[in-house]
Amino acid sequence: MDNKIKPREQWGSKIGFTLAAVGSAVGLGNIWRFPTRVGDNGGAAYLFVYLIIIALIGVTVMLAELTIGRKTQLNPVGAFRALSKKWTFVGAMGVLAGFVILSFYSVVGGWTIGYIVRSLTGQFSGDTTELFLGLITNPGEPLLWHAVFMALTIGIVFFGIKGGIEKASKILMPALFIMLILVIIRSLTLEGAGAGLSFYLKPDFSEITLSTVVAAIGQAFFSLSLGMGAMITYGSYLNKEENLIKSAAIIPALDTFIAFIAGLAILPAVFAMGVAPNEGAGLAFMTLPGVFAQMPLGGFFGFLFFVLLFFAALTSAISLLEVVVSFVVDQLKWTRAKATTIMGAIIFVLGAFCSLSYADAKIADVFIWAGEPLFDLMDKLGEYLLVIGALLTSIFVGWAWKTENALQEITNGGKFKFGLAKVWSVLIKYVVPVILVIVFFTYFGFLEI
Ligand code: PFF
Repeated sequence: MDNKIKPREQWGSKIGFTLAAVGSAVGLGNIWRFPTRVGDNGGAAYLFVYLIIIALIGVTVMLAELTIGRKTQLNPVGAFRALSKKWTFVGAMGVLAGFVILSFYSVVGGWTIGYIVRSLTGQFSGDTTELFLGLITNPGEPLLWHAVFMALTIGIVFFGIKGGIEKASKILMPALFIMLILVIIRSLTLEGAGAGLSFYLKPDFSEITLSTVVAAIGQAFFSLSLGMGAMITYGSYLNKEENLIKSAAIIPALDTFIAFIAGLAILPAVFAMGVAPNEGAGLAFMTLPGVFAQMPLGGFFGFLFFVLLFFAALTSAISLLEVVVSFVVDQLKWTRAKATTIMGAIIFVLGAFCSLSYADAKIADVFIWAGEPLFDLMDKLGEYLLVIGALLTSIFVGWAWKTENALQEITNGGKFKFGLAKVWSVLIKYVVPVILVIVFFTYFGFLEI
């Protein structure tokens, strides 16, 4: 059927949307990236700042993005263009961010597959640092898993919204939560876990600096899937009966809760196993197998955990690719099949370079620029794009589209009560832009951190 006549697909059910949006938010960002950032930025003080940022900035921008999406029923580029031609580029930046983030994200998604295989072959009992480095420094194996992960992401996006995304999210998110609880119980009872617990939960407020705040903001957007239009895209499949205010509260609450308990599962184990908390990208992958090794039925639980982590990564990867694909389908009028395969293939190649930048092989040199592996550069660039995207989105909603119009859409012409409408307006117009401009300055070195 012609694109123009075909009514835009909508979510099969309310709970389907919420779970899919939570599926996008909850992913490697919560379980792999968040504990790493906590470790890098000194522990509890960072956690404290992070929670404030989510409540103040995360929820505010979440509501803004969902509102733009539902209002326009379009992909991010089309959405900005429909509301104001001059702002189309913000949507385009989001598509670029999708490319950049999915490239390295899919590599880590691939690592989870590598770990599923290792759990099956009983390799969780030895030196877990070796286990991780053995995987990522091998030039070939991570590429294979990255290819498998990307192929699955492409497959699900290929078959459209309802078929893949909703079904997967419904069962897997609750299962992941239960697994995390089991890991927490074992982690906290490990010898030496107490030091990790106080590192994570006892803030030393004197440690809070501008750099803590900047790091927390980047992570908050990454974790909530904000700043690149993923939530605009998801909101675009919503009908007017959905209460956006509720969604904008529930999605960040669930996402942050999962990040918090992931920290609780991993950081005590980091200390118990004598791994340095600022170990970087490998933190979760180096400690979790050790926790499973010391658990009854550890082999089985380890397997299950990495299967669930893999699915959490997949539901997020789907939303990253969906942003890129919905843009190409809506704006360039490609078929869904063509858009998914071609865009997916390009992202695969970029990701392959990221993966190789960690390899212990001559070829890695090609992908290490100014001493930094391409993987890390992409991770950084992705975060910058999200922050800049969120900054522009907040200025757009506050000043160009105007909060009155946004509020009209949020409340569906007064049908839904929004007690905090004034507070939200002040946040999106003044507070969020000012804070994000400061972050922006730090990125470009105008402000020392
Ligand atoms: N929020 C995802 C995570 O925490 O793993 C990552 C992500 C997905 C970021 C979608 C941005 C996005 F648009």
